[in-house]
Parts: sequence; C-alpha cells; structure tokens
Amino acid sequence: MENYLVAENLKKVYQEGEKAIIALSEVNLSLKRGEILVIFGPSGSGKSTLLHLLAGLDRPTEGKVWLDGADLSGFSDEELARLRNEKFGLIFQFYHLLSEFTILENVILPLSIRRKKGSSKVYQEKASSLLTEFGLSQRMNFRPAQLSGGEQQRVAIARALINNPEIIFADEPTGNLDRQASNFLLESIRKLNQENHQTFLLATHNEMVARIASRVLNLREGRIV
Ligand SMILES: Nc1ncnc2c1ncn2[C@@H]1O[C@H](COP(=O)(O)OP(=O)(O)OP(=O)(O)O)[C@@H](O)[C@H]1O
Ligand SMILES: [Mg+2]
Repeated sequence: MENYLVAENLKKVYQEGEKAIIALSEVNLSLKRGEILVIFGPSGSGKSTLLHLLAGLDRPTEGKVWLDGADLSGFSDEELARLRNEKFGLIFQFYHLLSEFTILENVILPLSIRRKKGSSKVYQEKASSLLTEFGLSQRMNFRPAQLSGGEQQRVAIARALINNPEIIFADEPTGNLDRQASNFLLESIRKLNQENHQTFLLATHNEMVARIASRVLNLREGRIV
C-alpha cells in the first residue's frame, strides 16, 4: 500500500533569544492509510512539535512533510487550513474549546467553517449522537468551563470526528482520562479505524495507548530511537 503521510528528515529549531532549542532532528517516518501509529516518548521529547509539523500547523526548520504525494511546504497557510478542515481531525493536548459557545456548538464548529451542504439540523443530530456516544448527552448545552477536564477532552474528540476526517492526529488523547475512560476511548479509536478505515497518529506517554497501535515509534530528545 502507498504511503499516506511521510516525514522526511524533519528538524525543528526554536529560537529563544540567543539560544537555539533543537526540538526535533533527523525524524523520518511514514504512515500508510488505515494504520494507527503511536509516537511514544517522555515529556519534552518533541511529540507535540512533531504532531504540529505533520498536521500542517507549523513548518519544519528543515525537511519535508508529504501527504498523499503532495509536499506540504508548497502549500500556503490558507491551503493548509483548508486541508486540515477537509481531511484532518485534530485533538490537541490543550483542547482549545471556545468558552463562549456551548458543547454542542463547539462540536459543530468544523462543519460550519466548511459550509458543507446540509441543514444545521443534520449537523446538530450528528454532533449530538457523537456526544451521546461519549457519555455527554446531558452536557450539550453547557459551556466548556462547566465541564471536568476529562469531559472537555471528550468534547474535543467529538469535534475532531465530526468532519469524518481521513486522518486523526491526537496529542495525549488520554491525558485527562482515568483508566476506564481511557479504555473506552481506545476502543472507540480501534472501532473507527476498523469500521471507517480512518488513519490515526497518536502522541502519548501513556503505555495503555500502545495496545491499539499498528506500530509504535519511540521519540527521545527529538529523535526517533
Ligand atoms: N514554542 C516553543 N519555543 C521554544 N521551545 C519550545 C517551544 N515549543 C516546545 N519547545 C521545546 O521543545 C521541546 C519539545 O517540546 P514538545 O512540546 O514537543 O514536547 P512533548 O513531547 O510534547 O512534551 P509533553 O509530553 O510535556 O507534552 C521541549 O524542550 C520544549 O521546551
Ligand atoms: Mg506535548
């Protein structure tokens, strides 16, 4: 099978005044459609940095990211934003829920940005069925600040899935979940992967996540080891 996502010799340097922080170097990886790739590494090893580069949220200092044969360095910021909205589901480490909107509105947001054909009623139904699946049927009209960390994380996951993305990037998806909620989430990911053939790239330091991986890559101090 063709490679879907490829990272070629990625390097990321953050310039902090005089000091250069090398967050990633010589990172090569490739992901086929339908895989669940887990990037495993301790805090500070570069997981979030790598995910941001692969999802087109930030640009590498050196090296390239290819998606479906296209070199992302040739995409404008606008084109990257469109690509993310159409093909990617993003679950961030800090959920980035919009505080002035309800849970239901937060989940529908990617669909309204896309102005996809379909009535808002259809969006609402889809969002509410996802929220129900994640145990939040009683919370739909709440605002993010009224939810626990784990509940907010589940909202962020529902929002990432609403567009039916080809690939889901998740940064520490079990970060705020207890063992039971983590198990439930991992089983949901496995199910989406098997039934909808969605591809996943998960960054984590939680060993439980490796259980559902097709492959695990270990990241240490910015390098795959
Ligand atoms: N915007 C930034 N400016 C400067 N340094 C940064 C920036 N973002 C990350 N870093 C540094 O790059 C390294 C990798 O950070 P990153 O956030 O990718 O790690 P991580 O593996 O996601 O850690 P965690 O598990 O704690 O989320 C760290 O040393 C961090 O301090
Ligand atoms: Mg991180």
